[in-house]
Amino acid sequence: MRISVIGCGYVGLVTGTCLAEAGHQVICTDNDPERIAALKAGVVPIYEPHLDAIFAANLRSQKLSFTSNAAEAVRLGEVIFICVGTPPLENGEADLSAIDNVARLIATEACESKLVVEKSTVPAQTGQQLKRVLGVYRRNGGIEFHVASNPEFLREGTAVEDFLHPDRIVFGVEDETSENQLRKIYAPIMERRFRCPVHLSSCPATKPPALVVTTINSSELIKHASNSFLAMKISYANMIADLCEKVGGDIKEVTHAMGLDPRIGPRFLDAGLGFGGFCLPKDIQAFIRLAECSGADFSMLKEAERVNKRRIDLFLEKVRNALWVIKEKRVGILGLAFKANTDDIRFAPSLEVLRRLIAEGAHLRAYDQEAMDKTSALFPQVQFFREPYELVRDADALLILTEWPEFRDLDWARIHGMMCRPLVIDGRNMLEPRAMMQHGFEYFSFGQPEKSQPAQFVPAQLPALSTASAGA
Ligand code: UGA
Repeated sequence: MRISVIGCGYVGLVTGTCLAEAGHQVICTDNDPERIAALKAGVVPIYEPHLDAIFAANLRSQKLSFTSNAAEAVRLGEVIFICVGTPPLENGEADLSAIDNVARLIATEACESKLVVEKSTVPAQTGQQLKRVLGVYRRNGGIEFHVASNPEFLREGTAVEDFLHPDRIVFGVEDETSENQLRKIYAPIMERRFRCPVHLSSCPATKPPALVVTTINSSELIKHASNSFLAMKISYANMIADLCEKVGGDIKEVTHAMGLDPRIGPRFLDAGLGFGGFCLPKDIQAFIRLAECSGADFSMLKEAERVNKRRIDLFLEKVRNALWVIKEKRVGILGLAFKANTDDIRFAPSLEVLRRLIAEGAHLRAYDQEAMDKTSALFPQVQFFREPYELVRDADALLILTEWPEFRDLDWARIHGMMCRPLVIDGRNMLEPRAMMQHGFEYFSFGQPEKSQPAQFVPAQLPALSTASAGA
């Protein structure tokens, strides 16, 4: 099938490349001519594991191509995927101006009937507006536009795997033709007819993805409801972590046992600095705004957002409690990206931590596998290191802000010997408190009370566990 992808951000690039890998003829466009020039030259401008390999192969075989001429891209595709950004406005609402621009472009440039698919994350009822704009601006009265919603559930860092091995594929459609076109597009994914760059020998024998066909409104809601639920789940775990600190529990023990209940599940219960990135924070805000505008009570989501914002304050309180005076202290930072396996720093908790520590007069040195170039452009006053060991030399504290798995495997004995004060404040609960203390570190994290992190309050009414019941 001939597919056009409008918007070459991470969603557009992963979508376009994976659809080309699935055998379709894909042309992508973006309003940033430099980005298109780089892509044409074979340069993938984002760090996304496994994308390079399928990108290069499909560019070579000409299944995948790029143009800065958006009108040309519109004319070539039978199906057009809209993958433009929907950033937050001041009031939290999603800014849909890019969608509106693309809709007007399609309406004026199309010479044949098209299926227009919303891939960007948009609030419910955007599909209806899209249809209206396409109709109002249509130049060629002899053609028809169909609109569908096909939300993406890609996580940065595992986006290629998520696209090729999804748990579910959702089509929000209004007619059978659109559904059939989408079924045809996704058939190679459903039937696993692609070269998987993630599992080189053979893909694990997992269940095929669930295919869910809904109305457009439901489909739009599914995306926002899913991201908001994940955000709530993280905030819930963070709230429990705070309680663990107060009453003396261990968050990892609590969430491990909670997660064994299949109704709860183990994922997205990692306590720490909270959620960042370009999706969860903006989607929860947009969902709250949608509810406000429609008169529904979403105070629960507002609380989840408030709990998340408080994470940075609580983390800095831990830093302050440990260091006492922050001014003039040499503080090492491990991790800048909003999560591991990406170079994305948009709405990363690290940015606010850096800003506030700089304002308090700390001397910062930082390291991240992928996100240093982007961060150094924002923080010229921070010293950046190409490897983690140099940054800890004579440091008064080391802060972990991103859950890069490599940080677990660092030579912590060596780091202990290099620091001026062996103090680690782990914003991602990555390291083993006991092991860190055995190395001789003062170690602080979220919800894992240790000797250096005493429980502040133990209610008298809680019965003490007897040895017999504890062992039972
Ligand atoms: C999120 C969703 O997980 C995807 O399903 C969705 O498709 C995507 O948004 C999107 O809308 O495009 P992503 O933003 O890549 O994906 O990142 P997540 O893996 O959801 O992580 C978000 C943040 O939550 C990160 O800062 C991460 O460190 C934090 N997090 C995650 C926690 O603090 N605790 C956890 O247990 C899990």
